[in-house]
Amino acid sequence: MEKLREELLILENKISKLEPNKSQRAELLNKLEQYADNFIGQLDDSLSFRGNETKDSSRLAIDGTTASIEEIISIFEEEVDTPGLNPASGGHLGYIPGGGIFATAMGDFIAAISNRYAGLYFGSPGAVRLENRLIDWMKMVFNYPDSALGNLTSGGSIANLIAITAARDHFGIEGEKVQKAVVYLSEQTHHCVHKALRIAGLNSVVIRNIPLDEAFNIRVDALEKMIISDKKAGLYPFLIVASAGTTNIGNIDPIEKIADIKDKYNLWLHIDAAYGGFFILVDELKSKFKGIERSDSLVIDPHKGLFLAYGLGAVLVKNQKAILKSHHYRASYLIDATKNDEEHSPADLSPELTKHFRGLRLWIPLKLYGVEIFANALKEKRGLCIYFLEGVKKLGFKVGPEPDLSVGIFQYIHESIDSNTFNKTLMDEIHEDGRVFLSSTLINGAIWIRVAVLSFRTHVSTVDRCLEMIKDCLQRTELKLALK
Ligand SMILES: Cc1ncc(COP(=O)(O)O)c(C=O)c1O
Repeated sequence: MEKLREELLILENKISKLEPNKSQRAELLNKLEQYADNFIGQLDDSLSFRGNETKDSSRLAIDGTTASIEEIISIFEEEVDTPGLNPASGGHLGYIPGGGIFATAMGDFIAAISNRYAGLYFGSPGAVRLENRLIDWMKMVFNYPDSALGNLTSGGSIANLIAITAARDHFGIEGEKVQKAVVYLSEQTHHCVHKALRIAGLNSVVIRNIPLDEAFNIRVDALEKMIISDKKAGLYPFLIVASAGTTNIGNIDPIEKIADIKDKYNLWLHIDAAYGGFFILVDELKSKFKGIERSDSLVIDPHKGLFLAYGLGAVLVKNQKAILKSHHYRASYLIDATKNDEEHSPADLSPELTKHFRGLRLWIPLKLYGVEIFANALKEKRGLCIYFLEGVKKLGFKVGPEPDLSVGIFQYIHESIDSNTFNKTLMDEIHEDGRVFLSSTLINGAIWIRVAVLSFRTHVSTVDRCLEMIKDCLQRTELKLALK
């Protein structure tokens, strides 16, 4: 016993570095603060995309040796923060940006220091209450009933998965029923919905791609015809997935009319509003979301529309029974943890048990800044998208349908060369340039370049820089393809 005690005291001494003292903490924080200040300070002048440049990526490997905080920061800067896309930059206008407001870091910092257990109410009633109040706020924003449940997820993909499993379990889609079950979605549905169906054991359901109109919106007449014909054929239609802000084009499906169909045929309507949902905060755009409150489940991503750093999505589900059926479980070792549940616990509404206390990264900014500031930022992003499209039109580009939100598409039609070859080469030039990052997409076989304005750091000057860059790249593309 004495010997063991001595060994334990030696071990305690050996691991004491894991709890730095006040001055050590201050020194570490000071170094991190300096890095953060430099990083944020140079964002305006740095490239948004840098290709593959790294110094020596082998330094990322874990080999058991130790390094000083200065060395660690330098490895991080050179090997992680330099190559590829810089999502913190306002010049990130590709995919779906967000930026990462500073207050996210404050929330994550405090969450990690206090390490509150936000999975079950018993462990941290305050943390669970805080997350549930955020869900309540979202229910209010989208006019969902008080009885709806919700969960803060790591992102939109897991949020969509939770909604899909709830729909599955509401209708009891299992066993032989799977192959006769029908899901209606569109070519513009985000691919994470297909992944969710696969993960949820619904790989062999019948998937119907609803035809789209010229603005890439779901055609409701075609949807209804499909449902009628599937029912006649003895199939089991159960789920419609619509988008409020597609990733490719940013368009919003005709939600109200789709909700009429779902009521008429008693189907589950899921809306993926991961990108577009928070634009509902902008007064002028509210009417575009009419009917969203009639959906059965809804996905919205604060790490997109509320500009948080990556790591926060959200799902709302109206049918309590359905979402609990998928996720509620009582393990024998958790019997104490289920007493006095005054609130629904996140662990009962998602696949996660122990989880990051991610609510804090949204709660702090909403408390610190209020809500209106986010509405104004979103209004600015939409305006910038329109401003940008006017600008590329002037440069001779063809632009796609008028954007519903802040994603637009454009392409250059050159009289003497195939359009895909030209736009692919132009895209390569844009990536090579790197001043601003754009991404492209394939729509009906044609390459379109996308502009997605959603970083809180994107402003008029960024869009002007982007237009200048495109003008330069256009010239370089013509030279490269010997068109000049
Ligand atoms: C409309 C839409 N749904 C779902 C997702 C997936 O979300 P996440 O990347 O947060 O998992 C995205 C991502 O861009 C999206 O735009």
